[in-house]
Amino acid sequence: MIDIAFASAAPPSTGGLALLLTEAAAAGLGTGAGVASQADAACGGALTRAMAAAAFTGKKGQTCTVLAPSEGLTRVVLVGLGKEADHTPRGMEEAGGLAYVALARDAVAAMAADGMPPDHAAHAGLGSLLRSYRFDRYRTKEAADDKPKLHALTVLTDDHAAAAAAWTPLAAIARGVVLSRDLASEPPNVLTPTEMAERCRPLAELGLEIGVLGPEDLERIGMRAILAVAMGSVQEARVVTLRWNGGETGAKPVCFVGKGVTFDTGGISIKPAPGMEDMKWDMAGAGTVVGLMAALAGRKARVNAAGIIGLVENMPSGTAQRPGDVVRSLSGQTIEVQNTDAEGRLVLADLVWHAQDAFDPAITVDLATLTGAIIVSLGHEHGGLFCNDDALADRLLAAGKAAGEPLWRMPLGEAYDKLIRSDIADMKNIGGRPGGAIIGAQFVQRFVRGPWAHLDIAGMAWATKDSPTTPKGATAYGVRLLDRLVAEHYETHG
Ligand code: BES
Ligand code: MN
Ligand code: ZN
Repeated sequence: MIDIAFASAAPPSTGGLALLLTEAAAAGLGTGAGVASQADAACGGALTRAMAAAAFTGKKGQTCTVLAPSEGLTRVVLVGLGKEADHTPRGMEEAGGLAYVALARDAVAAMAADGMPPDHAAHAGLGSLLRSYRFDRYRTKEAADDKPKLHALTVLTDDHAAAAAAWTPLAAIARGVVLSRDLASEPPNVLTPTEMAERCRPLAELGLEIGVLGPEDLERIGMRAILAVAMGSVQEARVVTLRWNGGETGAKPVCFVGKGVTFDTGGISIKPAPGMEDMKWDMAGAGTVVGLMAALAGRKARVNAAGIIGLVENMPSGTAQRPGDVVRSLSGQTIEVQNTDAEGRLVLADLVWHAQDAFDPAITVDLATLTGAIIVSLGHEHGGLFCNDDALADRLLAAGKAAGEPLWRMPLGEAYDKLIRSDIADMKNIGGRPGGAIIGAQFVQRFVRGPWAHLDIAGMAWATKDSPTTPKGATAYGVRLLDRLVAEHYETHG
């Protein structure tokens, strides 16, 4: 991953250079006074000629690379930002990500964001950094030529001190995203529940209070729904709490709850073999909560926040729970487990209930790779949002849009709730295929006491193709969305 630095706006004479251009700036290239026009002059007009030849107009997402346009420059890449009016921090991130891809083979590179607000320059840097993420810990034979050469990118801006100041909190968010992506990328033999809990402990250095509960604690508290999922595995269950007290003393915290199934075989209701390896990232909800709490602490957010994650491995074995078992959850409500593959909701049931007892939260937001059905509904373009509070739902939808991690609201209702009535217990954990994601949300809602949102992120946690700020693989979806929700609505100012 690259380092980001900021410097005054002057065109470099060596290495790679990215120029981020609105349509207006593209049309005026070669006539203005900024870095782009200076670079064009230094290249003898090669950039304006290339722009015309490639029909580059500065449209959003358009790129044009000009190779060796001068003695010293390896390449200049033009990146389109679109119309001036659509020019947003998120747009800068996407452009920064595209610029990184074009510059990755240069050992030295700069990206010009002059003529733009300093915080836009910082967001361009964030986009580059997020796109440069790689998980290569287990590659021992990669040829040097196949690795990116770029390790540091300098963002050229009119006010580099202001841009660097805007960068400080973004760097903390980026560290949270990277942590979250690393956790979801790790193979399931490495990232067991105990290992994931151990990786939370060092976050105490950021000022987070970390608590780790083991099987005896969970038994004593009465979190038998989580323990039921863990029964089939030799790996012990863990519940980790992460607290950040950056707000006013006594102010109710915002609470984030994450499903952390470090591997989901389905249990006795075993999944088919093809694609089962994907179930290593069935802990992505928990990974997002950990990354988010690291981001909030890292940027010293003025908020009280509590994270809680339930870490288990869902395995079939002679000690595994059976279809037909009835378990008593922490809430006292009993659950008939008709399908051991609907395990995430069992984990969330006890976590949500315990979080309400332990933290008395202002709001509770849970994140879970809960259902394949949400992928059928929304594909890989939106996370599913289920919410019992319209104001909270609107805040989440807006934060998701602005952060580039969009949500789509799904319904809840009595008619769906009826589908999980059981003949033997208070509820069963499945309710038929139609509306499967809603049924999962409806199950969790039975354990909810206050304002609550459920984010089904099964379609968003892992990408099979690159996008501007996210290489394929673990996305850390939700970290930036929820960081933004907190920043915009739950932080005290002054
Ligand atoms: N972890 C899965 C959901 C999932 C599927 C996540 C695909 C990511 C990609 C979850 O535990 C599960 O197995 N859900 C079942 C529920 C069903 C048994 C009611 C499903 O979606 O099939
Ligand atoms: Mn499952
Ligand atoms: Zn699962």
